[in-house]
Amino acid sequence: MLLFRYILFLCITTIYAEVHIKQQNNVQKIMHETLKRKAPPSIKIPYKKEYGDVTVNPHNFTFISQPEPCRGNETILVTAHSATQNFQRRLALRNTWANPRILQKYLPKGHQSKLIFILGLPSKSSEQTLINYEQAMYRDLVQVNFMDHYRNNTYKAIYNMKWISSYKGCPEAKLVVKVDDDVIFNLQAFSSFFKTFTHTLGDSFKLSSYFIAGNIQHNRRPFRNPASKWYLSRKDYKYDTFPMWLQGLTYFLSPRLAKEIYNLSFTTPYIFTDDIYIGIVANRVVQLKQYPLNQFYSDPFFQLAKQSLYWKSKPYVFYHSHSIEDFFRLWCLSCNSVTCAWCSKAKV
Ligand SMILES: *[C@@H]1O[C@H](CO)[C@@H](O)[C@H](O)[C@H]1NC(C)=O
Ligand SMILES: *[C@@H]1O[C@H](CO)[C@@H](O)[C@H](O)[C@H]1NC(C)=O
Ligand SMILES: *[C@@H]1O[C@H](CO)[C@@H](O)[C@H](O)[C@H]1NC(C)=O
Ligand SMILES: *[C@@H]1O[C@H](CO)[C@@H](O)[C@H](O)[C@H]1NC(C)=O
Repeated sequence: MLLFRYILFLCITTIYAEVHIKQQNNVQKIMHETLKRKAPPSIKIPYKKEYGDVTVNPHNFTFISQPEPCRGNETILVTAHSATQNFQRRLALRNTWANPRILQKYLPKGHQSKLIFILGLPSKSSEQTLINYEQAMYRDLVQVNFMDHYRNNTYKAIYNMKWISSYKGCPEAKLVVKVDDDVIFNLQAFSSFFKTFTHTLGDSFKLSSYFIAGNIQHNRRPFRNPASKWYLSRKDYKYDTFPMWLQGLTYFLSPRLAKEIYNLSFTTPYIFTDDIYIGIVANRVVQLKQYPLNQFYSDPFFQLAKQSLYWKSKPYVFYHSHSIEDFFRLWCLSCNSVTCAWCSKAKV
């Protein structure tokens, strides 16, 4: 009986190790192939010619609350767009993949991260009271004084860029990871992804030149149907196509680009879809390098059952969770006894 168990144990660990190694090799192979490919050229929109240095998007909000400053040795800044009422989602990120102590185990030596959330103002004062407690406890919130509403998401993105490049940001950071608060990283896959990614970026990464990387969208057209949540009138956006933009769920950029995006935001007309707006502004930067990472994003419309399968077998790194339950179930599929001993106690 004992021997049988021992053999069973050996079989299981061997299979596990093989799947794991295969997965890592997959990520590296795909990564190499992906990064060799150049992003196709984006259409150019002549904003400079059209508006010159005229301020067409005036904004002057202020940070009403800021997180604990960086310690000075953080190389990676993870910054999450969050809606004021998403207390649970912020807690989930703090306790799982985005937690600097957990993330560090999956990063190459010498890398440290910091996690911050950016939010606007809630409409209820009771919610602000809770946010004040949350800030006192975790000191990881950047709060800006505009009303938190999806129509104001572009302000959230712009002030995120401003905070990143301000003296209170993380001046030593070489990489900004912008995420939404419902994303979950498969850390095992992320670990291989990150090594290959930074290796490929090479000098761009070291010198923090202008780069952006993520799930690149091409030749997408504005929604012109007034019934759509994403409707844009010709007055809002007069061109027929968008330049290249990156899906907001997760994208990577250099702090230097963040600063330039903040600067150019004044002369780029506002549209409320924040990821498209950031794409439009980034495309105005002449020296911009774009890296498509589309293969690493799981299809957002996958149901959990399918995601579970994909989690183990495909080298997707970034997943969209449909609910907080979904988030924890996915997390507990990937973690080990150290990162989440509590998973086995929870019914997942
Ligand atoms: C922005 O607002 C502050 C006060 O909140 C004011 O001192 C500053 O001059 C304003 N800046 C601009 C460019 O309007
Ligand atoms: C980063 O800085 C903090 C505070 O100065 C220090 O406690 C920590 O050990 C440093 N981490 C590394 C990896 O150098
Ligand atoms: C966006 O924020 C501004 C400033 O707080 C506010 O006046 C406006 O109503 C907000 N927009 C929406 C759609 O809530
Ligand atoms: C943007 O940068 C240019 C040149 O570096 C500078 O002249 C300009 O004042 C900046 N604009 C803003 C709004 O910071």
